Amino acid sequence: MQLFGREAELKGLGELVDGPAAGCAGVLIQGEPGVGKSAVVAEAVAAATVGGLRVLRTTGVEAERNFAYAGLHQLIFPVRAGADTLPAPQRSALWAALGLADAAEPNAYLVGLAALTLLAEEAAAKPLLIVAEDVHWLDRESADVLAFVARRIESEPIGAYSWPAALPA
Ligand SMILES: Nc1ncnc2c1ncn2[C@@H]1O[C@H](COP(=O)(O)OP(=O)(O)OP(=O)(O)O)[C@@H](O)[C@H]1O
Ligand SMILES: [Mg+2]
Repeated sequence: MQLFGREAELKGLGELVDGPAAGCAGVLIQGEPGVGKSAVVAEAVAAATVGGLRVLRTTGVEAERNFAYAGLHQLIFPVRAGADTLPAPQRSALWAALGLADAAEPNAYLVGLAALTLLAEEAAAKPLLIVAEDVHWLDRESADVLAFVARRIESEPIGAYSWPAALPA
């Protein structure tokens, strides 16, 4: 689709897509409803795919905001096989969070570490773009994990988008 008047935004996102390893780890896109956030990001995702990045996505949904780790499940599910080689405590916590193990509520810190380890390993194999849309509707646990990962990915070849607002306080 032809986008009008978004050259500057697309250029900025292009730099993220071109060089997540160069230190630009994340972009937060904010704007009024319908202003064109998803359209801009769709262009950037297409460019990332052409550029050889793997794209993992999650979108906050109001109906799922009380389902712990629903958003993380959406993000991680395509790469869940990589969890097999995680350290055992992280693997157990992640499996529990994703509903793949019969376990009590997992330790949130271990889930965060597991997600970070898994995403870093995926990114080492192929640079990664993480896209989180409508984060204001993400379940609390997933938002916490994404924030945890976002604070630590500067040294990994991972790019991240998030919008329309900052992670909920
Ligand atoms: N720069 C643009 N040029 C042409 N059409 C556009 C542009 N930006 C957005 N649109 C169109 O406007 C509509 C709304 O855009 P979009 O869904 O990207 O907004 P949004 O900010 O993500 O909305 P929401 O806050 O509801 O998620 C879509 O039909 C999209 O194709
Ligand atoms: Mg949108």
